[in-house]
Order: sequence, then C-alpha cells, then structure tokens
Amino acid sequence: MREFVYFSNKAVTSGKYLSGNLMHAGRMDIAIHVLINSLFLSHKIREKTKIHLIFNGPPNPPQHLIIFPDGKKSSGKIQLSKKDVAGLIKKMLYKSNPNKITKVEEGYEIEKKSVFKVLDEMEKDGKEIYILDSKGEDLRKVRFSENSVLVIGDHEGFNKKEFKKLKSYGETVSIGSETYFASQVVTIINNELDRQGI
Ligand SMILES: C[S@@+](CC[C@H](N)C(=O)[O-])C[C@H]1O[C@@H](n2cnc3c(N)ncnc32)[C@H](O)[C@@H]1O
Repeated sequence: MREFVYFSNKAVTSGKYLSGNLMHAGRMDIAIHVLINSLFLSHKIREKTKIHLIFNGPPNPPQHLIIFPDGKKSSGKIQLSKKDVAGLIKKMLYKSNPNKITKVEEGYEIEKKSVFKVLDEMEKDGKEIYILDSKGEDLRKVRFSENSVLVIGDHEGFNKKEFKKLKSYGETVSIGSETYFASQVVTIINNELDRQGI
C-alpha cells in the first residue's frame, strides 16, 4: 500500500464553500490535481493507493478525507471521474460529522481530524512516513518500503512550525532542487515507486 497525504491550510472545509471558481476555494484546484495524479493511470485507477486530503481552511477545519478506490471506478453512488473530482470532494464534505468518522461509500470516508493526529495514528501502525521537501534526501537514493506514506504541502508549502513537527515523523525526501507543483511531485513519486516495484 502506498499512501499520499496532501495537507492544505487554505482548502475549504464545507461543501457550501465549494462552488464557483475552485481557485477561490482555498486552491481546491490543486487538491483535485493531486488526487488525479495520485489515483489515475491511463484507462485505470491505481490499486493499493490511498490518498488523504487534509484541509484546514474555513469554516470547519480540520477535515480528513480518505479516498481509497483500490482499482475501482465506482463504489455505491460514487463514480470516480477526472471530470468531477470537485463534486466528489463536495459530496464528502457535506457528509462530515464532527463526532465520528463517516463512511460515504466503501473506500470513501471523512472525519474531523488534524494532520498530526492522522500522522500519529500512521506512526503507531508502523507506516514509514516521508515528508516531501526540496532540501531532503534525493528520491533516487531512497529505498521505499511497502507501507510508505508521502506527505506533500499545498501552494504555500508547510509553515516553519508545521515543518519542524512534520520532520519528527520521518525523513525528508527531495525530487530535485526546483520547486514543483504538488501534483507534479505526486506523479514523480508514483513513477519512482512503480519503478521500485512497490
Ligand atoms: C508548490 S510546492 C510549495 C511551494 C512553497 N512556496 C514552498 O516553498 O514550500 C508544493 C509542495 O510540493 C512539494 N515539493 C515541491 N517541490 C519539491 C521538491 N523539489 N522536492 C520535494 N518536494 C517538493 C513540497 O511538499 C511542497 O510543500
């Protein structure tokens, strides 16, 4: 299993806030590109790949969306389509309950949980956590394990305090000295893990 964590302090946390221009919804357009590049291959959906979207924007932060289609294009009433990822996120945000995790459909869950709580649980589960940062260890020198978790920031990256705490969970990994779009980083990691046979 490979898992991506996309963390955004700006992405909105209510379905109501997700209409109109996605760039004005805390750059939800970036989250959508990240999701597409995480889960979609040409003509199929990746198996054994999960994405966690953790949004910290207004009005109801934090929201943790867990999306794990595991090769399936549909699950109950959800049709996973590149054309309507915004609709999927909106539907999931509407289902959020402050007191419990909500299963929207098999493979689609939402809960009110912060990035650090999510990472604490992953750490307890023995997952290998990597923080994506241009100054980290060269991606090509890292031998990833079967239970890798890759943490990626949004257009603003991680703030200093967050980054310090994130580094306590695992190694930082770099795909090069340029700053890439979060969605480009995901594509490069997916390719590297595919090549390593993970
Ligand atoms: C568009 S970048 C963020 C840019 C932001 N201004 C900054 O300096 O952090 C989005 C995310 O992609 C990841 N990223 C971008 N370039 C990278 C690189 N060369 N190596 C590793 N991760 C990278 C980081 O996790 C970053 O938070």
